Amino acid sequence: MLPKDRPELIKILRNASEFKASEVVVAEEVIDSHLHDPNGSGYYVLIAEVASSVAGYICYGPTPLTDGTWDIYWQAVAQGKRGQGIGGVLTKAAEKEIRKARGRLAIIETSSTQAYEKTLHFHIGQGYEMIARIPDFYSLGDDKLILQKRLSYPDGRKEKS
Ligand SMILES: CC(C)(COP(=O)(O)OP(=O)(O)OC[C@H]1O[C@@H](n2cnc3c(N)ncnc32)[C@H](O)[C@@H]1OP(=O)(O)O)[C@@H](O)C(=O)NCCC(=O)NCCS
Repeated sequence: MLPKDRPELIKILRNASEFKASEVVVAEEVIDSHLHDPNGSGYYVLIAEVASSVAGYICYGPTPLTDGTWDIYWQAVAQGKRGQGIGGVLTKAAEKEIRKARGRLAIIETSSTQAYEKTLHFHIGQGYEMIARIPDFYSLGDDKLILQKRLSYPDGRKEKS
């Protein structure tokens, strides 16, 4: 991501019906943290471009105090460009970078509400497995779902079973 991508990306986040205004504020803070210190903030951001316009993004970073676990924090594709494979390309690009950094486990957290049903389907389609559920985490009736994917190392070595 470059500073010039920020305005278009913020527009995508503000137009995403799934996100509450308070969530967009946090997403923006994280993006700004990355732009301020791309290598030291702990947040990495990749942008997908279609015809030189920002079409989506993914934000991820190493989980503090772990050895090789990474969080995929945020991901969004412009409302009119969903379902065309852009989200899948972003996930794969982030996983490639995580592997290069010798990451072995990618974690995604999401909500159990109906608004995120398609999102859950998307992550499962990308090979993520639901490994935990915390009832009423976000609010009463809105559980936190934790998904994981084990990643292999660039030299072909697999995660120990
Ligand atoms: C989730 C999201 C990033 C996926 O990106 P995408 O470019 O739409 O996904 P792809 O085209 O690569 O993959 C398509 C799959 O995603 C799923 N999907 C999720 N949301 C979708 C949507 N709004 N429209 C179409 N497909 C969607 C479909 O089920 C589809 O699976 P299928 O091919 O088996 O039908 C995107 O839809 C989005 O921005 N959603 C809203 C924000 C969000 O939930 N972000 C994740 C939490 S931070």
